[in-house]
Amino acid sequence: MENFVAYNPTRLHFGKNVTNSLGKTVKQYGNRVLLVYGKGSVKKFGYYDRVIEQLNKFKLAITEYSGIKPNPVVEDVEKAAALGREKNVDVIVALGGGSVIDSAKIIGLCIASEKSAWDFMKWKATPEATIPLVTVLTLAATGTEMNGAAVVQNHDTGEKIGFVNELNFPKHSFLDPQFTATVPVNYTAYGIVDLITHALEAYFGEGEPSLTDRITFSIIKDAMYWGPRLIDDLENYELRANIMLDATLALNGITNYGKKGGDWGVHAIGHQLSFLYDTPHGASLSIAYPAWLKLHKERIPERIQKLGREVFGVDSVDETISSFLRFFVSVRSPVNLFDIGIDLTKKSEILDQMVKNKVTGFHHNLNYEDYITLVNSML
Ligand code: NZQ
Ligand code: ZN
Repeated sequence: MENFVAYNPTRLHFGKNVTNSLGKTVKQYGNRVLLVYGKGSVKKFGYYDRVIEQLNKFKLAITEYSGIKPNPVVEDVEKAAALGREKNVDVIVALGGGSVIDSAKIIGLCIASEKSAWDFMKWKATPEATIPLVTVLTLAATGTEMNGAAVVQNHDTGEKIGFVNELNFPKHSFLDPQFTATVPVNYTAYGIVDLITHALEAYFGEGEPSLTDRITFSIIKDAMYWGPRLIDDLENYELRANIMLDATLALNGITNYGKKGGDWGVHAIGHQLSFLYDTPHGASLSIAYPAWLKLHKERIPERIQKLGREVFGVDSVDETISSFLRFFVSVRSPVNLFDIGIDLTKKSEILDQMVKNKVTGFHHNLNYEDYITLVNSML
């Protein structure tokens, strides 16, 4: 068992109509709110009205920043932070999926200081304060609603990177599965893939504590049980609720108890694809994970075998990998680069991007030969 520190200060409000107490909750932190959201789904499906009604009920002054993109960019973070500073906001309400909530985390750090977003992302500035963040989640996938991570991209530097800090934890997160009923089938699948790969990244990190492994397998199995059912019945509340809870627990810290941390090499590969081709995050992972497992099948056969036995009831490494592939296909997530319209002509572009950003895992290192194997295997 490795030494570890457990910390999670986010208060989670989970279930039907939990946003009925949103206004009262936000009010505790002040009167001036920066409301951050994406490119329009929250207005189209009525979630925006529900939130505005709550904020109005408590006579909160609302400043809005909309237009956060999937695979969010640092320019939006900077613009929203400038607006928040100008309006002297007391609290941020983030309404959306991972892209909106991640942006809001960095916006908070920027509002509380005169420093730039990218300086925080690159650890050139040390975060010392933030302003309170309350989230209303509309897409089950990333776990950002209950963790200290934020992922942002920068087209000037050519990077999509994560930044983890205790100040990033939301104070409160409101998770009403009804708010996810309108997520289209593709993003629903990407969310299921994403949460499963969070469990896998943890599993392949350093340390093999028995209880944590079992918790991790349970999360994967639960998502694999409910996921395909949800794909065929998108508006089913119970199915949405099960996947939503799976996603939160897959990346809120518990899968790291007794470990040094996760590996995150596959996420690093996926971020390069998202950066280059705007590939949705989950889609990049169902392409990269099978390739990573194939690369590691002779390096860590026992660990992969244990996973296969516990999750699929199969004995061999190859069967474990093909079972994951079959699962990703069953929820209609892409499993190779051709599936997302990328062919052999892009091979050197992907390799260059991996080299430039020194793609590797924290526990399992990747070198240039590995990059070539990985890219060939994704094509
Ligand atoms: O922009 P709008 O119009 O809101 O549409 C969004 C977007 O197009 C739409 N959507 C969200 N909720 C909806 C909905 N459509 C209909 N009904 C709803 N209820 O879905 C699209 C994708 O949204 P996005 O927020 O990008 O998806 P997701 O939650 O998967 O977040 C992905 C981002 O999170 C990062 C990823 O890298 C990516 O940038 N991650 C963050 C992590 C973290 N903070 O811990 C960990 C993850 O591994 C991941 O890296
Ligand atoms: Zn992820």
